[in-house]
Amino acid sequence: MANILVTGGAGYIGSHTCIELLNHGHEVVVFDNLSNSRYESLRRVQKITQKHLVFIEGDIRDADHLDQVFQSYSIDAVIHFAGLKAVGESQAMPLHYFDHNIAGSICLFQAMKRANVFHLVFSSSATVYDASNISPLHEEMPTGMPNNNYGYTKLIIEQMLQKLSAADARWSIALLRYFNPVGAHTSGLIGEDPQGIPNNLMPYLTQVAVGRLEQLAVYGDDYDTIDGTGVRDYIHVVDLANAHLCALENRLSTQGCRVWNIGTGQGSSVLQIIHAFEKVTGIKIPYQVAPRRSGDVATSFSDNQRAVQELAWQPQYGLAEMLADSWKWQQQNPSGYSSTQHKYK
Ligand code: NAD
Ligand code: UD1
Repeated sequence: MANILVTGGAGYIGSHTCIELLNHGHEVVVFDNLSNSRYESLRRVQKITQKHLVFIEGDIRDADHLDQVFQSYSIDAVIHFAGLKAVGESQAMPLHYFDHNIAGSICLFQAMKRANVFHLVFSSSATVYDASNISPLHEEMPTGMPNNNYGYTKLIIEQMLQKLSAADARWSIALLRYFNPVGAHTSGLIGEDPQGIPNNLMPYLTQVAVGRLEQLAVYGDDYDTIDGTGVRDYIHVVDLANAHLCALENRLSTQGCRVWNIGTGQGSSVLQIIHAFEKVTGIKIPYQVAPRRSGDVATSFSDNQRAVQELAWQPQYGLAEMLADSWKWQQQNPSGYSSTQHKYK
């Protein structure tokens, strides 16, 4: 059992990870400024697990506040989710993204060092791979310059952490490169709750299905793929959350900095997703083909063997379960968490 600080723990992936941590006997301290989440997600995490966690509303750019947290709770390791993730917004507001993601991460790592906490799991992304790599992508393939500022912040933080661990052997760092997280906890109580119009395929699709949005635009049907539409490696968020637990346990006993892909190793096209969703839910999805989205690659899926072998991790959920759980969450919470406004104090 360890005391884990979870930055960004009220968000989509963080809240699912809190469940896995609590269910495995860890003590959880969530530190989140709620800029893209609500406390309600954590209230529901505690309802699902019947366990208590500590919530602190705070910003990772606030060094004094972080010092206070490290002093008050005897933290053994940090899982660092906090950050901004909207690709379009990152293009419009680069400094804002550099500040939250890069400066915020540096502030956190400095506070960890002051507190003598050197175990870290970091949320990275498959977006750091060079676009010329051919899938399946494996960890030794070259990274490239991401074509958006969000992806750039992930690459910079990865590189900083690699240099940090090379310079100081006390650090033990997991860089998890997520592929495409989808789905929700099987209870339907927590899930992805994007603000405004979603950018990503799955929340867009479920919002069309629930009638919040009119129709789905399929960005390009002339790629060199099975049916011309983009292929991605969708992974159930509960499997992804579990990967954090496995990576944490690995890092608590090993030093250095190690990269792991977290995906299923299977690619699905946009049309395959639409048709599978229709089959699972019985709902017809209105869609129309639109031009390609700038910055998209045709195909991206993982070679996940390093995580399977080294972390003793194995994805448990297939596409049908990912779609069913995304839909269950959306159906039970058509407006996300916004209809419930429990204050934590
Ligand atoms: P999310 O927005 O749901 O969660 C991020 C959380 O961080 C939110 O609760 C937000 O309030 C908090 N936060 C943001 N800035 C903060 C700050 N300065 N101080 C404290 N808290 C702050 O996003 P998510 O989908 O759960 O993603 C979690 C992490 O995984 C992010 O770092 C994201 O970039 C990364 N990631 C996500 C995906 C994806 O598709 N969802 C893919 C690859 C990587
Ligand atoms: C996108 C981001 C990536 C980020 C990731 C997680 C871009 C170019 N890439 O990845 O940097 O790490 O989200 O936040 O924005 N699609 C449609 N219609 C839609 C939405 C998506 O056809 O309305 C297609 C896309 O063209 C793609 C697939 O669905 O082929 C998946 O898209 P998405 O869910 O946005 O994920 P990525 O593009 O992989």
